Amino acid sequence: MSTVMENPLRVGLRQERTPEPQILVIFGASGDLTMRKLVPALYQMKKERRLPPEMTIVGVARRPWSDDYFREQMRQGIEDFSDGIGSEELWQDFAAGLFYCSADMEKQEDYQKLKALLGEIDEKRGTRGNRVFYLAVSPNFFVPALKNLGAAEMLKDPLKSRIVIEKPFGRDLNSAKSLNRVVQKVCKEEQIYRIDHYLGKETVQNLMVFRFANAIFEPIWNRQFIDHVQITVAETVGVEDRAGYYENAGALRDMVQNHLLQLLCLTAMEPPNALNPDTLRTEKVKVLQALRLADLANVENCSVRAQYSSGWMRGKPVQGYREEPGVKEGSTTPSYVAMKMLIDNWRWQGVPFYLRTGKRLPKRVTEIAIQFREVPLLIFQSVAHQNNANILSMRIQPNEGISLRFEAKMPGADLRSRTVEMDFSYGSSFGVTTSDAYHRLLLDCMLGDQTLFTRADEVEEAWRVVTPLILTWDSPSSQENVSQYEAGTWGPSLSEMLINQDNRRWRRL
Ligand code: BG6
Repeated sequence: MSTVMENPLRVGLRQERTPEPQILVIFGASGDLTMRKLVPALYQMKKERRLPPEMTIVGVARRPWSDDYFREQMRQGIEDFSDGIGSEELWQDFAAGLFYCSADMEKQEDYQKLKALLGEIDEKRGTRGNRVFYLAVSPNFFVPALKNLGAAEMLKDPLKSRIVIEKPFGRDLNSAKSLNRVVQKVCKEEQIYRIDHYLGKETVQNLMVFRFANAIFEPIWNRQFIDHVQITVAETVGVEDRAGYYENAGALRDMVQNHLLQLLCLTAMEPPNALNPDTLRTEKVKVLQALRLADLANVENCSVRAQYSSGWMRGKPVQGYREEPGVKEGSTTPSYVAMKMLIDNWRWQGVPFYLRTGKRLPKRVTEIAIQFREVPLLIFQSVAHQNNANILSMRIQPNEGISLRFEAKMPGADLRSRTVEMDFSYGSSFGVTTSDAYHRLLLDCMLGDQTLFTRADEVEEAWRVVTPLILTWDSPSSQENVSQYEAGTWGPSLSEMLINQDNRRWRRL
């Protein structure tokens, strides 16, 4: 497999390419991610004829499943979480490339068994020794899996083996650094694909196209014209059945360190001078290096965290975070985080970036809103109303699109204005719904394109940015400062205060 260094925008508007014959080994094959996301995305690629005929998937997990049972489970996943099997013939062809290997990720001898199986598959199916190892497992297994794959010499050839690591990549700066050291001991950076599924979203990639394929936005994309930026990732779901993981993560580690900071980087970065994986990632790293919480001397002044209490969602009562299954009594894990950040560089000096994310909020919506400065002199005194600033809203999901808010004269004899919107929507412009992020990311990884995956220094810088909050919030003395917000509301009142104290308001979404 060769490494692809290609213009990602051109890849995005893609000349269709098919990966080389290969085996995708999924560790964590009996888990949710495999069944809900990975295998349905692979099947979708099969439907679109994007997979080579030799493509083989080997599921690895502890359970003693047979190949046939694994196939049945995956079929169920495709039926439940995508638009179904379609043609039976196509499914049979796909299923013939599904295998299962029962293994304990901590046992070296099991990797020998896996290695032997992969060798046999190479012979039988012509996969030519090409492999992608996907760690869709709990982070406790990352290190043993990496060490054992290394010891079994399965990552030795950088041209033929790749490894995909799911988030969370570490739980703070030190653990991320030590994980990076382990990874870099067993393979080269060009073999490592650290996933942040937000980068696979069509609308997130469109941030680059929007900014760098249009000439009119760049001249106003700076402190001279922009008043502030708001990034919102709101979810309606609660912690669901993931308390085991979430209790140790909370919204800061689960969402901010990765998804929100990636959105911020793509919004704030300088135009890369070429679009290959490293130039792009270098620009993102530069943003992270210049990014900081607005008040480093007292981070509580520029941040808020909170937990949902019981409330109502779409007319139905829902329980509070502490009552959710698996959550510790008196838990202080935040399910909501908001913060004000600044970027110390020429483009953004003094422009606040307000970030907020939470579970059990009234609406599922992810948006980046660029609020421009108000007009320097409002000559329409008689029709003046509050806040006539232009806002460019980039809707990441749902209802994907971009709109620009501006003032227009209302029809009639009086000179009265009203706020209106120019709107672009993916649905109506392209007539298709955007494809799933995993579809794109799996394909890129199989093609050897690292553009949409995070680099070692990038992930470390992102941890560095949130370190002051981790240190403050994890300290026992500040545990009781976690406030509550009612499920189905837009978060705690402290969050309103965070932005109101700057004479600004969160957008009503
Ligand atoms: C995951 C988080 O990375 O992203 C989840 O672990 C969160 O807690 C999810 O629900 C949100 O992803 P999306 O694509 O639904 O916005």
